[in-house]
Order: sequence, then structure tokens, then C-alpha cells
Amino acid sequence: MPLALGTTAGCSLRGTVRVPGDKSISHRSLLFGAIADGTTTIEGLLPAEDPLSTAACLRAMGVDVSPIEAGQTVTVQGVGLDGFQEPESVLDCGNSGTTMRLMLGLLAGRAGRHFVLTGDDSLRRRPMKRVGGPLAEMGATIAGRSGGNLAPLAIQGQTLHGATIRTPVASAQVKSAILLAALTAQSPTTVIEPVQSRDHSERMLRAFGAELSVGGPSNTEVTVTPGQRLRGQAVVVPGDISSAAFWLVAGAITPGADLTVENVGLNPSRTGILDVLKQMGARIEVLNQRDVAGEPVGDLRVTHGPLKAFEIGADLIPRLVDEIPVLAVAACCAEGVSRVSGAEELRVKETDRLAVMARQLGAMGARIEEFADGMAIQGGVQLHGAEVDSETDHRVAMSLAVAAQIATGATQLHRPEAAAVSYPEFWSDLERLQA
Ligand code: S3P
Repeated sequence: MPLALGTTAGCSLRGTVRVPGDKSISHRSLLFGAIADGTTTIEGLLPAEDPLSTAACLRAMGVDVSPIEAGQTVTVQGVGLDGFQEPESVLDCGNSGTTMRLMLGLLAGRAGRHFVLTGDDSLRRRPMKRVGGPLAEMGATIAGRSGGNLAPLAIQGQTLHGATIRTPVASAQVKSAILLAALTAQSPTTVIEPVQSRDHSERMLRAFGAELSVGGPSNTEVTVTPGQRLRGQAVVVPGDISSAAFWLVAGAITPGADLTVENVGLNPSRTGILDVLKQMGARIEVLNQRDVAGEPVGDLRVTHGPLKAFEIGADLIPRLVDEIPVLAVAACCAEGVSRVSGAEELRVKETDRLAVMARQLGAMGARIEEFADGMAIQGGVQLHGAEVDSETDHRVAMSLAVAAQIATGATQLHRPEAAAVSYPEFWSDLERLQA
């Protein structure tokens, strides 16, 4: 059944919202907790489909992870660096690229053990050689369809050796997989990225007691020495800025809106969205800035106002890679033509997000020109309600809901349930904030 959106004429958005826990930090807290010695407690873990996939894979290898429910502290009983049991069946990563890619790094060095990873229709189409290639340089054996690029993937655990690896794309998933494999290798490993990607793994590894050195131009080189034991920790997961992004854009473009998003993670490697919204002249205040368990956190207040077009180039992409779909919606409401370039990575996300946003927002009257590595979006265009589809992509579903907010007439959204991958309460929060 499609979801009816934007049917109440002139309704605005007002109030306070707490977005669920950061997806990247949630995955990592489960994974690092699993390979640590002792118990890890996780407060604020994202209770959504993607982290559930990570937890299910860990349980299948003998890790005791307590039930993941909203508002509950999750406990992981670490099995130590070498404690995983060989799973009896295939490990299902669902829709989650982070689960599959980080698992590849985590499992490649388990000598003598065999693992098979698979996922849903979307994940089985996503490129995995970007992880398998670097891991092969460390001695990993990973086989899969299309020359090892596509899941299902079979890992025959090997004794790994350290390496110096230059990654062709700035991807925190690739970097983190290499760092996890490096922990189990026989000599040090250095990973060098073209541009720094999000650094949650580095921060959390340090918090768990591992030593790593970060250097090079703009923190693009990370070195890990193997054989270090991690110690279980008390992790507090901040709200996900990638989920907050929907409210930030919705607040900036909806006449009369005044929204406060509480407890948002403000790690500088993730705050590109704030830089772009400021570039657009959006009215955003950062309040109550603080540090929570090694990650900067604050509350964000946004009110409606006039917006100017933005320019986003390759250097900025890693800091807002997941926010481009909703920024495309903001661009429709700005004065001038907004441009995104250097964003070819969007084509290999849960869907081809450049094509899907051009197609779905286009159905609502947006004027988007799509390029191989980005798009140009005409501003000052009045969107109209239409029949649209998430195409199973969580961020597309929520971006289209934001667009429906300022469109004339009603929108019917097919497959809205995709939002549950990262933000299960999105639809109830939307209803509550529509004053
Ligand atoms: C993530 C990294 C990003 C992001 C994804 C989560 C992570 O992917 O798009 O949603 O947790 O490391 P890439 O590393 O492929 O850019």
C-alpha cells in the first residue's frame, strides 16, 4: 500500500525530535565489542534493520548480543580477537553494505575457518571487490560472483600479512575493513585514502585501547600494529546526523517551520551537510555542544528562510555522501542552479541514487540534469504531488517525504517501509512534527 503524504494544505513542521542512534557507530560498537575481551555496553544503539543484520551475523558466530530494542542498553559479551566460531550457515547481511564490508575485513584473517556472506537483492548487486582487492594484498582468499565482486562471497580464512594499501575511493567501509583485518595480521598495515572518510573506526579502536597512528596530509594515512587486544567499553551512540539531515532540510524549506533536533553526532568527518546548508543561507543554530564518549554532539535548531543554490565537489563528498538525496530536495527550493560533482559513489549505494533521485523527484516536477558523476538541479521550481517510489532505498524514501512536505497536492509513496533500514520511527516522527 502506498503512503499518502502532504495532504494537509499549509501544514508546517514544529517541535523537537531525537533522531535514532548513528548507524556507522552502532555497527562498529557491535563489531568491536564482539572482538574485545570482556563486556561492552551500548547505550543509544540504532534499533533498525541494518544493525540487526550485524548483530545476527555475530550471534551466528557464537557472540552473545542482548536483544536490540528501542531505549534498551545492549550488551555484547566479547569473545576476544580470535574467538569467533565457524558459522554453521550463510551469514545474511540483509540490506547493509557496512555489515558485509566490515565483516569481510573481520573474517578474512580467521585461518582455517570458512564463512559465506550474502544479502538482499540490492546488496548482492553492490561492488565488494573494493574490499576484497585490498584484503587479497594482505593474503586473503575471497571468492564470489563476477570475479569476486558480488555476493554471495565465500571467505576461506587465511593468515594475513601486513601491507601498505592505497584505496582508490575514499570509503570508510573499505578503510574500516582493512583496519579490522590489520588487527589479525602478522605485521603492521597502513591504509592511505585519497580524501579522509569518516573516522569512527579510528576513534572507537582507540577508545577500546588499541594504538594506531593517524597522519599524512589531512589524516588520510592510518597504521595499525597487529596483536593488540581490545577491552570492552561503555559506548554511548549519538544521534545520526544522516537521519537529522531530513529534518534539517525539511525545516529549512517548509514555510513556518521551527525544528530542534536533539543529541546529534557532530563528528567533523560527517558535518558536510551543515557546511552546505550554511552555504545556502539556511537558518541553523548549533546548541549545547558537548563531547559524549569520544564523539562531539550538539542540538540543531533550524527555521525556514530563503535559500541559495550550492556547489558540492569531490573533496566534500565523503563528509556528506549519504545526504545528497535530501540536499537535492533542498536545491529545488533554492535560488539558482545547484551542482554536485565527483559523486559517482552514489551510483553504488543501496540504489543508484543519482538516477533514482532524478527519476523520482523528476516525477514531482523537479528539473534535474544527471551526469556520470553528479547532477545539476534547477532551483525555484514548485514541486507537485505525484506517485513516487522509494525503489527500496531508505534515504530515497525519507527524501521524497521531505519533498512531499512542500509540494502542491498529495503524494503517494510506494515502498515507504524502506525507511526502517536506518530510521524506523521516521513516519511517526513526521506525523508528530506536522503542526
Ligand atoms: C559508512 C560509510 C559510507 C556510508 C554508509 C556508512 C560506514 O559508505 O555511505 O552509509 O559506516 O562506514 P562508504 O564507505 O562506501 O562511502
